[in-house]
Amino acid sequence: MIWQSIYVVLMFQFVLVFGAYDLKNLNIWPMPESVEYGAKSIFLSKEFHLKTDGSKYPDASGILKDGFTRLLDVITANNIIEFNSKVDDSLLLQGINVVILSDSDELQYGIDESYKLLVHANGKQNYAEIEAATVYGALHALQTFSQLCHFNFKSRKLVISQLPWTITDKPRFSYRGLLIDTSRHYQPLPMIKKVIDSMAYAKLVKCIALAYCRYTGFSFRNTFFSKIMGCYAKKRGINVLAELDVPGHAVSWGVGYPELWPSKNCTEPLDVSNEFTFKLINGVLSDFSKIFKYKFVHLGGDEVDTSCWSATPRIKKWLEQKGFNESQAYEYFVLKAQKIAVSHGYEVINWEETFNNFGSKLDRKTVVHNWLGSGVAQKVVESGLRCIVSNQDSWYLDHLDATWQQFYTNEPLTNITNPNLQKLVLGGEVCMWGEHVDGSDIEQTIWPRAAAAAERLWTNVGRLAKNPKDVGLRLMHFRCLLNQRGVAAAPLDGPGRVAPIEPGSCYVQ
Ligand SMILES: *[C@@H]1O[C@H](CO)[C@@H](O)[C@H](O)[C@H]1NC(C)=O
Ligand SMILES: *[C@@H]1O[C@H](CO)[C@@H](O)[C@H](O)[C@H]1NC(C)=O
Ligand SMILES: *[C@@H]1O[C@H](CO)[C@@H](O)[C@H](O)[C@H]1NC(C)=O
Repeated sequence: MIWQSIYVVLMFQFVLVFGAYDLKNLNIWPMPESVEYGAKSIFLSKEFHLKTDGSKYPDASGILKDGFTRLLDVITANNIIEFNSKVDDSLLLQGINVVILSDSDELQYGIDESYKLLVHANGKQNYAEIEAATVYGALHALQTFSQLCHFNFKSRKLVISQLPWTITDKPRFSYRGLLIDTSRHYQPLPMIKKVIDSMAYAKLVKCIALAYCRYTGFSFRNTFFSKIMGCYAKKRGINVLAELDVPGHAVSWGVGYPELWPSKNCTEPLDVSNEFTFKLINGVLSDFSKIFKYKFVHLGGDEVDTSCWSATPRIKKWLEQKGFNESQAYEYFVLKAQKIAVSHGYEVINWEETFNNFGSKLDRKTVVHNWLGSGVAQKVVESGLRCIVSNQDSWYLDHLDATWQQFYTNEPLTNITNPNLQKLVLGGEVCMWGEHVDGSDIEQTIWPRAAAAAERLWTNVGRLAKNPKDVGLRLMHFRCLLNQRGVAAAPLDGPGRVAPIEPGSCYVQ
């Protein structure tokens, strides 16, 4: 009987390894801009609660309140861990007071995400303090706070160590994205929600691009799905950005509207000669503009093989009438689609092939999305356009051979030294293309490698490690934290999506 209960206790500890390790080192991921800490500890009160004394933010939509509830869920492992009661009041943290300076909860590219977090060591009525310009900065502060809390197995209490804490923080780049390809395999909504939650843990928050209609047809018409996604993401400070990839990668469009195909046996790219093609793009972007409020829309434009256009007599005739060769028609298509998107109030993101082929003709507000290789961002910003970095050799999550160290060391500003040009690099995006992932393996393919990129995009350049070895233990700690929170983050030891190498805790894998 005794052995049995010890076994149960051990199992329990194995599952809830909060703080069963040495906390000498800083274990915050991504690393904040500035951190000061001491050596004291404090327990969290049983009545640990949220206060907003002095805040200007009314929280009418409950974004802060829900964020606080999620904080309680993760630090108590969904109420399995109890808070403390039988200790002296001066050793208890009563709650957090959150002061937000803006009353708006508009979520948009470039909003102020900075925050300040103080946790005092002692005093009666001791509250941690958060100050942030926007509610979204406050959400980041709560994420950081959650990483300071741990369960102490000796005292069997929730504890914050290394007090007092003084943390000031803000992101290096505003665009810190994860692309989820929802078109090659169906990604169940509950799984996308889990991924959104885990993005918030890594402050990889701003954008999630959904490649909507590459292969599965008019899934973007499913506005119900989009609305749920948008609302769920906004509450976590995450923008949703949709990709409408034209004129290539659009075979599925013709399933509903065969007249969009050049012909039945030559189905891609979309028929450039048919006005209906652009009427439909206009209709879709009109729908998008009601759902996706992020200021950018992604119009794709990559991997366009134009040979079907010349091979189709009707289109060949149109090309001749216009005096276009195939590449000129490709340019015509992309620029026309850009104009339509701009007319709906969007700024356009296009994949880098558009820049490589006719960069000087692109709308001057175009954001060029790099993917083919390195060195592109430099060329783009030197031409005066803006850029997002996703070079496939380092930031494609579907490249399973790419290690977390490669993700960590991929620097968006490589060879860009002029501060005015640096500003034109909006950030980066890791891409989870969907050929080989579905609901069964998407989490361990994304994590922990996306977290390595998240620190590159969040953390001030002076605080980034030159050698990824120096952050390995801290990242391992973060991946264990993800596991504790129910996220299937893979071990660090190996490339993408590997299994644990040996028995033992997640801190040795
Ligand atoms: C499509 O297939 C038909 C019948 O097989 C053929 O006659 C035609 O030339 C093909 N068209 C193209 C563009 O390949
Ligand atoms: C298409 O025409 C343009 C303008 O004359 C020319 O610069 C380009 O090389 C042509 N492209 C091809 C593939 O022939
Ligand atoms: C940066 O510049 C160096 C020196 O000119 C060059 O060797 C390197 O390839 C460049 N890196 C990229 C990513 O363009």
